[in-house]
Amino acid sequence: MSTIEAKTRVVIASLVVIAVVLAAAGLLQYRSANPQPWTEAEVAILRSLWIGSLPPLPADPTNAVADNPTAAEFGHRLFFDPRLSGTGGISCSTCHQPIRRFTDGLAKGQAIGTSKRNTRSIVGVAYSPWLYWDGRRDSLWSQALSPLEDPVEHGGNREQYAQFVAADPTYRASYESVFGEFPNLAKGDAVSRVFSNIGKAIAAYERLLLPGPSRFDAYVDAVMAGDVAAQRSAFSADEINGLRLFIGEAACTQCHNGPLFTNHEFHNTGVLAFPGEVPDKGRVLGAREVLSDPFNCLGNYSDDVDKNCAELEFARTGPELIGAMRTPSLRNLENTGPFMHKGQLTSLAEVLRHYNDAPPSMIGHSEAKPLQLNKRELRQLEAFLETLAAPLATAEKWLAPPATNVATNTNEE
Ligand code: HEC
Ligand code: HEC
Repeated sequence: MSTIEAKTRVVIASLVVIAVVLAAAGLLQYRSANPQPWTEAEVAILRSLWIGSLPPLPADPTNAVADNPTAAEFGHRLFFDPRLSGTGGISCSTCHQPIRRFTDGLAKGQAIGTSKRNTRSIVGVAYSPWLYWDGRRDSLWSQALSPLEDPVEHGGNREQYAQFVAADPTYRASYESVFGEFPNLAKGDAVSRVFSNIGKAIAAYERLLLPGPSRFDAYVDAVMAGDVAAQRSAFSADEINGLRLFIGEAACTQCHNGPLFTNHEFHNTGVLAFPGEVPDKGRVLGAREVLSDPFNCLGNYSDDVDKNCAELEFARTGPELIGAMRTPSLRNLENTGPFMHKGQLTSLAEVLRHYNDAPPSMIGHSEAKPLQLNKRELRQLEAFLETLAAPLATAEKWLAPPATNVATNTNEE
């Protein structure tokens, strides 16, 4: 073999080695930029979580003005009006602040006193058959009545609110255009009737507060379209892995499922009691309370003449509901901590550590099982949860106090 031949061979061998190394590197790069494709079954799960799967708002037959635009305008004013309180200083928006997705950034609500639990977001809440962490109300309008009379929240009473609407010319006119002639408050149950209608107007407003499409939804759009470039610009490799854990190994979709990431059901997940308090019994008491609420679906103030209240009549009340809370939507996480029913956990990282350890419940039985995820996986899961943040799909004018509130006393509309 001549030296020239030998040199050629060395050159060729080197080229082959370089080519193999380049190919391997290319493959690695391709693999990390193109993670394992989703199976058909996984794509079906992604689609079920996608905002495009959100059905139209369910009708509320118990509230005849639920979708009445004039009622929503009236409710909008009431929601932001501090005169609807015992002190003249508290409105629904004291605790449900638009800039925090209608929460307050506190462990527990604060007004005249301290609420028993963490303020829930009300974005998308019109989809839920139950209200509150323990589901102790069964409609948006009946829910709205209880903070108004709660001594630590608005601290007023129905008599005072009915008199206030009667005496304010603008409110009285709005009331009459939505509900008909203002009743004589001295007669029969007129006060409670007007009070329930105040709740119905507020509910019509709250039904407008809906979540908008997030980066996660853009990613699912891209997956369904088979558009790899769009998938890459929507989600990082970490976010994809977080999503994979969320619907797979971590089994979060057992409860956080559907386009609002909630099954609207009650579960005990073993969250520790608030320091210094006995554990909260949750749904087992909420189920009893909603059955005895005079403003429930079966009551005299419900507009559903057929009393079609199967949800209420067949509500479960068994011991599995001890310590159970209603699964919150995960589309309302940005800017809404502290988390959990008493704001026990201050960050998403703490929430994920809770699920990873899944301590036994202090009361009843926890359904959460330890996950044994490593630190990197927990970070990926958190990165995925953050992709659900998005502006509301609600016109700006509903997200601030209405201009007319300034003029409500002067009858200048
Ligand atoms: C003092 C603070 C505070 C005020 C004022 C307040 N809320 Fe709340 N709100 C809370 C807290 C705390 C919860 C959760 C309580 C619970 O579940 O036990 C809550 C829950 C709710 C829910 C249920 C959300 C869900 O997902 O279950 C709705 C709806 C709501 N409030 C609407 C209103 C309306 C309407 C008003 C005004 C009439 C109002 N709130 C006034 C603190 C407040
Ligand atoms: C067995 C049902 C169930 C499973 C499984 C589950 N959750 Fe939850 N999740 C809930 C319930 C119920 C709450 C409220 C618990 C409470 O306050 O006591 C909650 C609360 C949360 C919160 C706090 C939200 C807020 O607004 O306060 C986050 C974040 C969360 N879960 C994420 C997850 C993630 C991520 C997983 C998977 C690792 C998961 N959940 C698994 C039912 C579940």
